[in-house]
Amino acid sequence: MLGVIGGSGLYSIPEVESRELITPFGKPSSKIYIYQDRIAFIARHSENHTFPPHKVPYKANLWALKTLGVDRILAISAVGAIDESLNIGQIVVPEDIINFSIHETFYDGIALEVEGEDIPASLIREGAVVHVDCTDIYCFYMRESIKNILQELKADFKMGGIYACTYGPRFETPAEIMALEKLGASIVGMTSGPEATLARELGLCYANISIVTNLAAGKSKSKLTTTEVIEVVSQKLSLIKEVIFKMADDFGYKSCDCGKYLQEARVG
Ligand code: HPA
Repeated sequence: MLGVIGGSGLYSIPEVESRELITPFGKPSSKIYIYQDRIAFIARHSENHTFPPHKVPYKANLWALKTLGVDRILAISAVGAIDESLNIGQIVVPEDIINFSIHETFYDGIALEVEGEDIPASLIREGAVVHVDCTDIYCFYMRESIKNILQELKADFKMGGIYACTYGPRFETPAEIMALEKLGASIVGMTSGPEATLARELGLCYANISIVTNLAAGKSKSKLTTTEVIEVVSQKLSLIKEVIFKMADDFGYKSCDCGKYLQEARVG
């Protein structure tokens, strides 16, 4: 089943039943909305946008999706453009991350009673120390699938680039953006860092669709506002929902390696 994590401005998908779960890692940020056993949707910041990026219960969200049978996650985010060749409203499908936000892990070296027969569940039960590889942190096959769908829909999009993840909740200073640009980042957001690496720790495929909602701080003469962020996302919602439904029917990802990264990741 496809898991979808909706970011700022995307809080639901149509015609769904919902489930409320409590996980060993706490309560997820919203109910999980399930569409025809094909899509499990969660609102990252809750339906009323009450969780700032550094307080999102990332572990609970990912564990809840996994518990419901999700094996690949499509995450939707609003981002600022560091690369000035990007347009407002353009979709970016990043290929890598620099994470300056929180670093969370399922493998704290402390045994925790969790249910499940798979590798992550047994490693967590044993309190194992695990160092997971973060190459291709965004699933290659999911990215290919997104590319094909966006091409078919004739969307304005760009493949590749680096997502810099800041702590937030404030926007960045122009000097911070300049530094991130020097490091090679092309877009900036506040959530994909912890989320993508936790998905990898569970062996789940994960890819991101970033909607460019503004030029990053210092790149435009005007001040950044959350109003513009939400407005631009709302203009893209019907496209994003089309992509989500098409992704749910695409199973090409099955040949990827995301589930195998845990096989040689254990130390202690
Ligand atoms: N910076 C960080 N996060 C964001 C931005 C930004 O400019 N725009 C939308 N989310």
